[in-house]
Amino acid sequence: MLTNDLLLRAARGEEVERIPVWLMRQAGRILPEYKTVRSSVNGFKELVKNPELICEVTIQPVDILGVDAAIIFSDILVIPEAMGLNYEMIESKGPFFPKTIENKNDVLQLTEDVVPNLQYVFESIRLTKSTLNNRVPLIGFAGAPWTIFSYMIEGKGSKTFSQAKKMLYTDPVLSHSLLDKITSATIAYLKEQVKSGADILQVFDSWAGVLSKAQYVEFALPYMQKITTAITEVPVILFAKDAHYILGEFAQTNCAVIGLDWTIEPEKARKETAGKVLQGNLDPCVLYAGKETIKKETEKMLRSFGEQKYICNLGHGVYPDVDFEKAKYFIEVVQQYR
Ligand code: CP3
Repeated sequence: MLTNDLLLRAARGEEVERIPVWLMRQAGRILPEYKTVRSSVNGFKELVKNPELICEVTIQPVDILGVDAAIIFSDILVIPEAMGLNYEMIESKGPFFPKTIENKNDVLQLTEDVVPNLQYVFESIRLTKSTLNNRVPLIGFAGAPWTIFSYMIEGKGSKTFSQAKKMLYTDPVLSHSLLDKITSATIAYLKEQVKSGADILQVFDSWAGVLSKAQYVEFALPYMQKITTAITEVPVILFAKDAHYILGEFAQTNCAVIGLDWTIEPEKARKETAGKVLQGNLDPCVLYAGKETIKKETEKMLRSFGEQKYICNLGHGVYPDVDFEKAKYFIEVVQQYR
C-alpha cells in the first residue's frame, strides 16, 4: 500500500482530502541536483539507459519539490529507437533522426517487438519502484502514436510538422500502417511498464495542435482509443497539447483522466468532458512571476476546477529556466489549499 495514494484516488474519481499535484517534466532540467547527475554522463542517452541514475533523478523531485507522484525518467523517443529508428539528442538543440521514414519498405523494416529492446526502462521502473518504498505512485508514460509518427517522418522538432502532415495527405494508407505499428509497440511497452511497477500511465500527444480536428479524428484518435481500450490494468491519462477540439471525444474513451493545456478554461473543459477527471493546466510561464502572482493564479485555477475529480499540474512541461524554488512554491500553494 502507498503512503500517499492521492493521485491514484483522484484518478479513479474517488474522494480526496486534498488535491494531488505533480509537474510534467519534473524530473530533470530545473533541479541543480539533476544537472550534477547529467554532467557526470556523456550525453542524454547515456543517462536514459542507466537504471541507477534514472532511479536517482526520478526520485529527486519527490524529495526536493514534495510532489505527490514520481514520473519515470525516460523519453518518448525510446520507442522509435526500439522499433529500429535510431535518434541522437543534440546538446541544447533536441532530437535528431539521421534516417527518417519515407516509404513502405522503411515501415516494413520497423519491429513491433520492442519489449526486448526496452529492458533498461523496465529495470529502471523496478528499481525506482522499490527505492521509492511506496511513498508516492510511480507514473509511466509513452508518446502518443501521432507524436511519435511525426518525429519518425520529420526527423527532428518542427513548428509545423509539415513533412509529417504531408505524409497524412499524400499517403494515408502508409500513414495508417505506420501509426498502427507504433500503436502496437506502444501498447506492449505500456503493459510491460505496468508489470514492472508503474501505477498509472500518461500518453503525451505533444504535437496534436498541428492537426485539424478532422485529421485528429482520422489519424490520431483511433489509436488513442486503441491504447485506452487495451490498458485496463491501471488508470490512463491522455494529454493532447493544443487540441481542445478533441476533449469531447477523449471523454468517450476508456481513459481515466484528461490532461489540459492552459488555453482552455477549466469550466469549459468540465462541460465538455462529462464527468472525467481533469488534470492541469497552469501556464508554465506563471512560474516566472513573483510568489504573490503564483499564489493568486494557482488559487484562481484551483477554484475553477473544484477540489474533486482533479489532479493539479501545469498545462505543459515545466520550462528549464524556471527557478526550482518557484516550482516548489507552486506545489506548496496547491498542497495547502482547502
Ligand atoms: O516528465 C519527466 O520529468 C520525465 C522525463 C521526460 C523527458 N522527456 C526527459 C527529457 C518526459 C516525460 C519526456 C517526454 C517528452 N520528450 C515529450 C513529451 C512531453 C512534452 O514536453 O511535450 C517530448 C515531445 C519529448 C521529446 C524531447 N526530448 C525533446 C523535444 C527534447 C529536447 C528539448 C527538451 O525538452 O529538453 C528531449 C530531451 C529531454 N527529455 C530532456 C529531458 C530531461 C533534456 C535533455 C538533457 O537533459 O540533455
